[in-house]
Parts: sequence; structure tokens; C-alpha cells
Amino acid sequence: MSGLISTTFRGLLKSGVLAKNQSFFYSNALKAYTNILVDKKGENGCVGFIQLNRPKALNSLCDALINDVNDALDNFEKDNEVGCVVITGNEKAFAAGADIKEMQNKTYVDCISGNFLNSWTKITQNKKPIIAAVNGFALGGGCELAMMCDIIYAGDNAQFGQPEILLGTIPGAGGTQRLPRMVGKSLAMEMVLTGNRINAQSALQAGLVSKVASKETIVDEAIKTAEKISKNSKLIVAIAKEAVNTAYETTLAEGNHFEKKLFHGTFATKDRKEGMTAFVEKRPANFKDE
Ligand code: HXC
Repeated sequence: MSGLISTTFRGLLKSGVLAKNQSFFYSNALKAYTNILVDKKGENGCVGFIQLNRPKALNSLCDALINDVNDALDNFEKDNEVGCVVITGNEKAFAAGADIKEMQNKTYVDCISGNFLNSWTKITQNKKPIIAAVNGFALGGGCELAMMCDIIYAGDNAQFGQPEILLGTIPGAGGTQRLPRMVGKSLAMEMVLTGNRINAQSALQAGLVSKVASKETIVDEAIKTAEKISKNSKLIVAIAKEAVNTAYETTLAEGNHFEKKLFHGTFATKDRKEGMTAFVEKRPANFKDE
């Protein structure tokens, strides 16, 4: 569907029906969702943009919202114009966790028979890089959603926490596994066992996020980075993302072996040849994603 939209868009541009600056076309053509807003930003709509949109519930992550996110990510993955995706919330909350009201009366049997939370994993399987731009609360499932992304940027008002312990449960979407890998055991243990939150500066210091900027500019910063990533070969970016993520799943020796195979594999692509030839010829590379 999005491929078709892109082709149509290009056709209209060529025929002069649309001027190049009429980027609203992208917004109008994108699917509408109940719990998220979806757009395309950046030059030629190269950045897929998802805004969590349940402001009254501080963007708490009900099942329907996660399904919307998965569907939007699927569409961006198939969209040849999109090279990177940004997920954000609003200035008060990225997401204040899984929806407690939805979980309140669930039983153990409901969890098992309904594969509760299994659909969240899909977010980590997308081939395109995803940047979380976090303002305000990123708590529980909100913090876990951010950690499922590839890069996290934080607005100066961001607060990260895993407060599940205060609700008589534990993180269930990777919080006990990803957080210690990202911030180390002591801080992760403290956050998970006390429910204490950390602010943006502490998150930066601990390595949970790679940039802090004002809450007004952080989304633009994320879009700028996404645009820069999108200028590279999408094929090679996907390989690089897979290589880095493998570091979290395997031993150093196995990871290095896997990396070497992928590195050798890039020599089977036209983009690797183009990148090196462009360097030698002192011109910008013209990647074709092949
Ligand atoms: C459902 C939520 C919610 C949540 C907030 N709301 N967080 N609804 N699930 N996780 C709702 C409130 O009920 C309220 O709606 C509205 O959002 C505004 O929240 P307030 O509490 O009035 O706002 P404030 O006083 O500013 O406090 C903000 C807050 C607090 C500190 C973030 O809302 C809070 O502690 N929320 C819960 C955070 C949490 O425990 N998260 C982990 C969830 S468990 P109404 O209509 O009632 O006024 C989890 C498990 C993960 O994530 C497992 C794997 C995914």
C-alpha cells in the first residue's frame, strides 16, 4: 500500500501536478489509527514518525495501541522511502507504562491463554532503525518500549523508571533484561527493586540514552538523526542494525564471527562498491539500496 502511494506520489511530482514542497500529501495518504498519529517527516518523507496518542491516560500502552504501533512499523518497514523511524509521545509522557486499568482484573490463565505481551516483541524485529524521543514519563512498559528501540534521546524533563514492584508485579517486556545490559546491574537492580525513577541527565550518564536536549527540541533532534541515517544505504543500515543488536544476544566470540560474515556479505552489494568508489572519486555516494 505505502509502496503504491510512493509510486503515485513520484508520478504526480513528475507530471507537475504536485510541487516538491507539497509534503502534506504524505500525511494525507497515511493510514489513520485510533491510538497513534502517523506521519512522514524529513527530506522526501524519509523518516517514519509515530506519536503515541492517548494523552488523557499519559499514553499508557493498551493492547490496541501496541497493535497500532506494530501495524505502522510494518508499513514503514515496507515503505522504500523510509530509512528510519522516530517514536515519541507528548511533552508530559512518552508512556506511563502498560495500561494498568486493562491489566487490573487479568488472571494468570488470561495471561497464558492470551499470550499477554507477546505482540510487543515484534517491535524489536523491524529491520529499520527506530529512535525513541522521550519527553516526560517513560515508566514500566514505557521505559521498556524505549529500550526496544535502537537509539534513545531524552528531553530534559524525561523520567525513566520501572515501578512495577509498587504494583505487586515485575517488568514483563524486557525491563529486567535490557535495563541491566544498558545501565549496569547496580542501577538496574535499584530501579527495579525500589521503583525509583532516574532523570534525563542520570540516564545519559548511565548510558540509557545517547542525547539530552530541551523538551522542545528533542523530537527535531531525533528526526535530524533519522534523516542522516536515511541517507545511507537502507540495505547496509539493516545489516549494521542486526550486527549491533546481536551483541546483546550472544557471546563476544560468536558475535565477532557473525559480524565478520555480515561484513564479508556487504561485499556482495552494489552499495558497498558505490560507497568506496565514491570515496576514491571524491564525490558523495549515490546508494541504491542494492
Ligand atoms: C493506566 C494510567 C497509567 C497507566 C497514568 N494513567 N498511568 N492509566 N495505566 N500506566 C492515568 C491515570 O489513571 C489518570 O487517569 C491519568 O492517566 C493521569 O494520571 P495521574 O496519575 O492523574 O497523573 P500524575 O498525577 O501527573 O501522575 C503521573 C504518574 C502516575 C506518576 C505517571 O500516573 C503513575 O504513577 N502512573 C502509573 C505508572 C506505573 O506504575 N507504570 C507501570 C505500569 S505497569 P484518570 O482517568 O484515572 O484520572 C507496567 C507493566 C509492564 O508497565 C509490563 C510489560 C509491558
